[in-house]
Amino acid sequence: MSRIEVATGPGPLRERIAGWKREGLRIGFVPTMGNLHEGHFSLVRMARANADRVVASVFVNPTQFGPGEDFERYPRTPDADVAGLEATGCDLAWMPPVDAMYPLGTARAVQVRVPGITDVLDGAHRPGHFDGVCTVVARLFNQVQPDVAVFGRKDYQQLAVVRHMVLDLAFPIEILGADIVREPDGLARSSRNQYLPADARARAPEIHRTLLAMRDALRAGRDWRDAEALGAARLADAGFEVDYAVLRTPLLREPGGPGDDGARGARVAARIGGTRLIDNLEFTLAPAA
Ligand code: PAF
Repeated sequence: MSRIEVATGPGPLRERIAGWKREGLRIGFVPTMGNLHEGHFSLVRMARANADRVVASVFVNPTQFGPGEDFERYPRTPDADVAGLEATGCDLAWMPPVDAMYPLGTARAVQVRVPGITDVLDGAHRPGHFDGVCTVVARLFNQVQPDVAVFGRKDYQQLAVVRHMVLDLAFPIEILGADIVREPDGLARSSRNQYLPADARARAPEIHRTLLAMRDALRAGRDWRDAEALGAARLADAGFEVDYAVLRTPLLREPGGPGDDGARGARVAARIGGTRLIDNLEFTLAPAA
């Protein structure tokens, strides 16, 4: 196992990246907020398979949390994160302090805002969230200068928003989406799962079962609005407070519009035991032969 390097200031990060660029190496990047689990490690492995060197950032970004959200209590486990990254073959952990990310302070930070797709689903329920995500991801891209960056498909809307930003701002970066990693009972891996009290944890896999039920209803010929209503009712019956349970195209549009080729995503955000969980299932109307 090669030793991972940890950079906590922009100088050493810049120096290492410049050295790799001089050698003509391809740089892969995985941005994270730490408290790493198998879901993150699968992103690192994907970056590893698509690059010569892999950088992962660990930074709990204050600008993407709204008032009353879990910024303060978000789990911070830097030592375990570095050990896990090292074991997964990451070359460099970028662990900046807040003033390295926001040198003029968060109130005076230049912001990056992607219009349209950030106003729906999570954007509608967490106003300003994606502005914070784009603002920090753009900074991280400038600092790390990756050739390829990997994001998880669980945060499907985030992936779509980042792709939009990269295209529109002409970042020369390939964006890859990695499959969702699930617990054996179907619950998508998330740092927030550890907030769940035992009874909520026992009910949480209902989200995945609901996504499958919404897909099956659609494939069985039910109208998409009925399939959405079925999903929301199932979750409410299981004790969830539902933010949304919807069926959308890959561009997060309602089904049936121009260019709709039958690709669908069932998408859910719901709270249980005081914790908000999100999950996605991507599929086509016709099952693969
Ligand atoms: O998905 C996350 O963990 C965060 O939103 C990201 C991309 C690291 C930006 O802070």
